[in-house]
Amino acid sequence: MNVVLIGSGNVATVIGRLVTRNNHKVIQVVSRNIDHAKMLASELNAAFSDYNGQLDKSADIYIIAVSDMAIHECVQHFNIHDKIVVHTAGSVSKDVLKNTAYNYGVLYPLQSLRREMQEIPNIPFLVDGNNEAVLKAIYDFAKTLSANVQVMHDDDRLKLHTAAVIVSNFTNHLYAIAEDFCNREHVDFGLLKPLILETASRINEKSPSEVQTGPAVRKDIHTLDKHLKILANHPKLRTTYMRLTDSIMNP
Ligand SMILES: NC(=O)c1ccc[n+]([C@@H]2O[C@H](COP(=O)([O-])OP(=O)(O)OC[C@H]3O[C@@H](n4cnc5c(N)ncnc54)[C@H](OP(=O)(O)O)[C@@H]3O)[C@@H](O)[C@H]2O)c1
Repeated sequence: MNVVLIGSGNVATVIGRLVTRNNHKVIQVVSRNIDHAKMLASELNAAFSDYNGQLDKSADIYIIAVSDMAIHECVQHFNIHDKIVVHTAGSVSKDVLKNTAYNYGVLYPLQSLRREMQEIPNIPFLVDGNNEAVLKAIYDFAKTLSANVQVMHDDDRLKLHTAAVIVSNFTNHLYAIAEDFCNREHVDFGLLKPLILETASRINEKSPSEVQTGPAVRKDIHTLDKHLKILANHPKLRTTYMRLTDSIMNP
């Protein structure tokens, strides 16, 4: 398929690589900032433009990978009547595209993507379309990019996006505040990395509720008390610790 990428950030970059590695062709990268469009286009061997330039009308699919808040504004620049247009957002309805194209939908990569990634991880794609034929076309395209593709409409995609924030963004934030705590207390955060990886890997075997460990699930008040004392100089972290302890004790 011939693909136009609209946007040049993390998702546009990773999807662009995935698309070209799977024998499709990115024919144009369009982005608000022309230097960003040029940089990604040169990697993908594509033409480039900003929103003032000519959109290549010969693509089969137009992938809009811009910030959630920008999708509505961005699509005002384009009129893509008879081709397929998708956005890549978990929390935005497909209908944001209804005035831009007759054939529209969603190609949401349920993965944390960063443009620095050369090795592309397993990406489940959640797809949607405004009618059966469009949905099938988007599904078939996604299947060429990933073995894991599911049809999901706006409501359920939003629910999974919420859960994705909890499992990915929140856990990473916990790593960040634990690292900061270790640095301030002059202990080595690096020693925790095998523990982080082991805990994450258990998800493949069991439900997380079955493998919860630690003083909160054991209701070990003595140890919890010691931790709260050591956190006395870190009031924000202490509050987070207490909230999560309460959540584990009273699920
Ligand atoms: N990153 C992830 O892990 C991930 C995963 C799944 C889905 N998504 C979704 O994918 C979409 C893109 O995310 P991203 O992580 O690639 O974002 P990003 O790296 O921050 O890139 C944002 C892109 O949006 C463009 N943009 C920002 N504000 C704009 C505006 N007002 N008008 C027009 N263009 C604007 C930027 O263009 P310029 O650089 O040219 O200014 C840039 O190309 C979002 O809907 C996001 O929810 C992200």
